[in-house]
Amino acid sequence: RARSQQDGPLAGIKVLITAGPTHEPLDPVRYLANRSSGKQGYAIADSFADMGAAVTLVSGPVSLPAPAGVTVVGCETAQQMHEAVLAALPCDVAVCAAAVADWRPETQVTQKIKKTGPNDSPPPLMLVPNPDILAELSAPTALRPKLVIGFAAETQTVLTHARDKFHRKGCDWLVANDVSPGTGVMGGADNKVFLLSRNGTEEWPLMGKDEVARRLVQRVVDWRAGGVE
Ligand code: CTP
Ligand code: CA
Repeated sequence: RARSQQDGPLAGIKVLITAGPTHEPLDPVRYLANRSSGKQGYAIADSFADMGAAVTLVSGPVSLPAPAGVTVVGCETAQQMHEAVLAALPCDVAVCAAAVADWRPETQVTQKIKKTGPNDSPPPLMLVPNPDILAELSAPTALRPKLVIGFAAETQTVLTHARDKFHRKGCDWLVANDVSPGTGVMGGADNKVFLLSRNGTEEWPLMGKDEVARRLVQRVVDWRAGGVE
């Protein structure tokens, strides 16, 4: 399907989306990662493109095709994702759907770490924090997007954690989802989310990730029209 950025309610709007996991190498053959299929972020990119927005999708390693009409910038580590996001600014709307690794190994060795003997203790894993891309985009700088949307992946007391995260991060909207193993959200086609904003909290029913994406993007269309904050 051909898409024209001259058409649609979000024509002329520049949207930046992060999606997928990040991989943090320990050595040339091993990495630390978050679980993330990238499906929700890719669906959001697709919906924004449908509305005529100019979309840049900064994506960690996933096995999904690039959505039609979307500029995909691939990256592997959180530091690379951070660099790619900064390079894509300024934008009007930012959506951070990526499952960014909070920490990376302190040192990356260039050769494979070898076992030395069957009774040796495993090597220690020393970690350092990664940049928090959402918190940085939400900070009140000249480059702050007009609308910053974060995600919260929680496995327990979803709303309590999400409300705390919403205030801590400084974003405008936060999409909270329960990613605990029984829900099937992780890697699955469906999602069950809450949308938090300064106006309060909405619970959305279980629906496909593509439908979550369409609803969220429709909210952005309404926000742009001055209907919602
Ligand atoms: N995020 C980010 N950069 C990071 C960590 C998280 O941009 N280094 C973004 C995610 O894309 C998501 C939001 O922050 O939009 C929340 O991520 P989450 O992992 O749920 O929250 P954290 O603040 O990292 O807290 P915790 O993992 O301890 O729950
Ligand atoms: Ca995290």
